[in-house]
Amino acid sequence: MKFNSSTTLAQRATSELLVLPFWKQKEKAVAASPIDKLKEALKLPLASGDFTGKAGETLLLYSSSTKEKRLLLLGLGEQDEASVEEFRRAYFQVTRATQKYKVKKIAVLLPKDGGLSLEDISEGVVEGLLLGNYDFSEHKGKEHKKAVLIDSVQLVGANKKQLDVAKEHGKIAESVYYVRDLVNSNADLVTPQHLASEAKKMARKFPKVKATVFDKKRLEKEKMGLLLAVGRGSSVDPVLITLEYKGAPKSKEHTIVVGKGVTYDTGGLNIKGTGHMESMKCDMGGAGAALGTMLAVASLGLKVNLTVVIPSTENSVSGHSYKPGDVYTGYAGKTVEIGNTDAEGRLILADALAYAAKKLKPTRMIDFATLTGSIVIALGEEASGLFSNSDALADGLAGAGSHCFERVWRMPMYDEYRKLLDSDFADIKNVGGREGGSITAAWFLKEFVNDVPWAHIDIAGTAYTSKSRDYVPKNATGVGVRLMLSYLKTLG
Ligand code: BES
Ligand code: ZN
Ligand code: ZN
Repeated sequence: MKFNSSTTLAQRATSELLVLPFWKQKEKAVAASPIDKLKEALKLPLASGDFTGKAGETLLLYSSSTKEKRLLLLGLGEQDEASVEEFRRAYFQVTRATQKYKVKKIAVLLPKDGGLSLEDISEGVVEGLLLGNYDFSEHKGKEHKKAVLIDSVQLVGANKKQLDVAKEHGKIAESVYYVRDLVNSNADLVTPQHLASEAKKMARKFPKVKATVFDKKRLEKEKMGLLLAVGRGSSVDPVLITLEYKGAPKSKEHTIVVGKGVTYDTGGLNIKGTGHMESMKCDMGGAGAALGTMLAVASLGLKVNLTVVIPSTENSVSGHSYKPGDVYTGYAGKTVEIGNTDAEGRLILADALAYAAKKLKPTRMIDFATLTGSIVIALGEEASGLFSNSDALADGLAGAGSHCFERVWRMPMYDEYRKLLDSDFADIKNVGGREGGSITAAWFLKEFVNDVPWAHIDIAGTAYTSKSRDYVPKNATGVGVRLMLSYLKTLG
């Protein structure tokens, strides 16, 4: 995506479509930024009263008196109700228009204020334009018409800071697309080895990023018995991927993001039924969020220390599969009775979290995982579940979530839930029954993080959705990247 700016309307360069913003004031549209010489061209359409400036309302005009063939009037709603999220939703309507009219090169006159900072205006406009500017048609036939995507945006009336913010969010959006592509792609392609090669590719591209991949042999040496157990039934080997980025070498601050990388979840011997397995290529959505976060952080060159840890495996069925009722020992030395082989995510995360806590000196750990159907029952597709042993970390993530609108909702972790994981044979069981299923899953993880400030984000309902939401397309959403970038920004 190319961004440039021009100071005024008079100085703008030619494009295919010019977007003009309007507030709604008592059923009437008023320009949200001076429109100078265009007043004449807009006189009739505005006088008609057909366009009122309601949030997300658009009116396309053809003009022979302007540089651009098309003018798009865009409603932003009432000025005193303006928010970054309202802007995202409104500007997504521009993206819909560009797809309809097959326009790639646009100029956007920035609204002047509305109680938002100039940076927030730029963020809302750019995210609204870009996040829905995505198409996954890899497997569609030749006769399918691919979506025409915007490839250049001119911000009219932007100052230097606003242009910088636009470029920053442009890079973040590219990282979100990257995650969506990984999650939408065939599980036959996106194997643990594929994720490992993506990590190595990133390390080659960014000198500050270092990749390490533990193969099966190394996992055996490290005694990562839970990740190995889950991987046993598959014809592809499990891996543990680590990506390290030191953007603030003098600082002791070190954030670790752990992502569940189950590249396909059949359920194992406790096999899933029809209707529950078809979307399970999404079960590496946490790994996607982790890789996408690293991609955004490295391409922006942020001054933070970030490590990404991804345990990755398929959960498959074969004569080698791990067995319900058996007991396995993980990296932490704790024994785990398998109550259900479909509760595999927490097993591989347990090895990854225990390893990260012991070896990588984190100041905080945040894991992303499509972990439980239970969180989908609780929160649907509108928010991710947040579980944490630290109020400061939980509050920080919740604040970041409401800013970027990847919302997280904190769930309780009362001690009483822990009992549900008691086992007759081992230190802990991997399932605690249907009731409070997302909480017992979080409790299982908590047993492996020691006293490191930790948050677990269950994205089972938000990583892969059944319907689109404005600028967030359905299927793979790329959730997690924007949340982490918003959060890392608050660390200063
Ligand atoms: N990958 C699933 C969770 C999931 C469900 C992700 C729906 C995305 C959408 C996870 O491994 C799983 O199967 N969890 C089980 C746990 C149960 C056996 C305790 C579940 O939630 O049903
Ligand atoms: Zn499962
Ligand atoms: Zn799973």
